[in-house]
Amino acid sequence: MSQDATTGAVHILDNGEAIARHVADWLLEHALKKTDGPFVIALSGGSTPKRLYEMMAEPDYAAKFPWANTHLFFGDERFVPVGDAASNYSMTDKALLSHIEIPAANVHRMKTEGEPEAAAASYESELQALYGSTDLKAGKPLFDVVLLGLGDNGHTASLFPRQPVLLERTKWVATCVPDDAPHTRLTLTYPAIHSSAYVVFMVTGGAKKDAWARVRAGDPKEPASTISSEGKLIWLVEPAVAGK
Ligand code: 6PG
Repeated sequence: MSQDATTGAVHILDNGEAIARHVADWLLEHALKKTDGPFVIALSGGSTPKRLYEMMAEPDYAAKFPWANTHLFFGDERFVPVGDAASNYSMTDKALLSHIEIPAANVHRMKTEGEPEAAAASYESELQALYGSTDLKAGKPLFDVVLLGLGDNGHTASLFPRQPVLLERTKWVATCVPDDAPHTRLTLTYPAIHSSAYVVFMVTGGAKKDAWARVRAGDPKEPASTISSEGKLIWLVEPAVAGK
């Protein structure tokens, strides 16, 4: 039943606020239904998900969310110190983490101290410890939900064009040094993202219209074209992205 960027369902919602509200409601519904283990989310970085995280921090919403049974991982991170304006963790902490009662052990920051390669290996070990194996198994998704964004150059997470990480099919976490964006990054790899019940893309901004069309058509030059889920892949886009 796996789906990829070309076969996943597309939902055109009015704007970023509507997308954020939709995902917040959807995540709560799925988190409450998860009873056979932890609800494991890989959070997207960048600016698009900030509004979602702020909504999830709203007291009425946060009080309903089963944080004690939820593990929050990150899809990627810029290799900068915590507190840096480019830090996905810091953005998420400001918008969400510092406002909710979630056990510290359930928040899995991609460490950006020391060397990137070592940090990637350490994060992979953290994922494997929760998963219970060093091998990804079909039918046993690593993530319940992987949230992703899309760059206007077709990147997603920190899977950037022309980078060796696009060929990585064994590691779960790898480094990437984009040639068209700042910072060394840590990122989940294609196999790790594929090991999911749901991949949910949130895409806003008309500048992404052409990239989205190429990804949707499966253009192999676009890194996001190779994203798949062993479960379902869902596109949530605003009209300008879909050319409407
Ligand atoms: C990152 C993100 C990245 C992001 C896209 C879209 O660390 O930059 O993980 O993949 O999702 O670049 O970014 P915006 O949401 O800011 O448009």
